[in-house]
Amino acid sequence: MTSRLHLLVLLHSQITISLAACQRSTLQQAYDSLFQEDKPSISSLKLASNVKISSNNVAITSLQQSPFVNYTGYAKPIRITVLDEEKCTVAVFSAPKNVDGTTNILSTRMTLNPTGEIAELETLQPTSLFTLPSFLPDQVNTTWTASSTASRADIQKVITSYPDGIALGDGKDVPVASTCTRYENGFAMPLACNGVFWLFQTNISQRRWYIDTKTGTALGNFVFDQSKYPAGLLPQLWLHEYFKVDQGKIFEIFAAMESQYPDPIYKDIWGPKGKFGSN
Ligand SMILES: *[C@@H]1O[C@H](CO)[C@@H](O)[C@H](O)[C@H]1NC(C)=O
Ligand SMILES: *[C@@H]1O[C@H](CO)[C@@H](O)[C@H](O)[C@H]1NC(C)=O
Ligand SMILES: *[C@@H]1O[C@H](CO)[C@@H](O)[C@H](O)[C@H]1NC(C)=O
Repeated sequence: MTSRLHLLVLLHSQITISLAACQRSTLQQAYDSLFQEDKPSISSLKLASNVKISSNNVAITSLQQSPFVNYTGYAKPIRITVLDEEKCTVAVFSAPKNVDGTTNILSTRMTLNPTGEIAELETLQPTSLFTLPSFLPDQVNTTWTASSTASRADIQKVITSYPDGIALGDGKDVPVASTCTRYENGFAMPLACNGVFWLFQTNISQRRWYIDTKTGTALGNFVFDQSKYPAGLLPQLWLHEYFKVDQGKIFEIFAAMESQYPDPIYKDIWGPKGKFGSN
């Protein structure tokens, strides 16, 4: 009897801990602790002792090797936040200011362990050569933070149609708002969000999704797999793509992307075949 009671108490405390770790406020706090009064403060991050860290898909062992060391704050207030309570993950799109005065695009993903420490820390900062961060709006449309509550499955269905359509080379089954704009590394594409998909017709592989069921925002992490072409001809394109889904349609998209010359095939470090992966 006593041991059964102990077991119950133990189970209960574990459930309480894991729920607490994945509350929206806990996730938000984990990210917010990185920038103190708008300045990066990597020492205030609560890292798990076995934390895994990657920077542009490469494993690093210390935050001293991360782009954070060169940031002096945010260049623009623009922020897109995805709080995935089920995956205990916070993902944020932002525009930090570099020590040399330039603006960067940064996608940061943190996954917390059951005690609320950061177990996974992933950053993508596209090479400045291929980005136009100064073209980014100062703020995203307020629709991004408005409540667009939907089930995980419903949001997943809408955003999955996007890479599926690109692979097919046809965007007709991708539900997009008529006002939808796609920002590719800062640049607002003058095309419908489901336009010119015929240009691609390439597999979109190694997909990972993080979904906020309250705001309808999501991060899709995937690769335009060019392996049908001769090796080295075209780089593979690795993306952190932020979606807002409102009333069953994609409202807008902000993408951070980086070219990867694979040898022979790009591997997502967090994906099933990657060094860190089983996401
Ligand atoms: C920080 O900036 C310096 C100077 O541009 C550069 O050499 C270095 O690689 C940067 N560090 C990181 C971790 O990006
Ligand atoms: C935000 O988006 C809505 C819907 O497209 C639009 O009507 C509104 O003008 C936008 N607001 C701003 C400030 O751009
Ligand atoms: C897409 O991926 C599938 C499965 O990996 C493969 O069989 C197919 O050849 C790929 N198609 C292209 C166009 O790369």
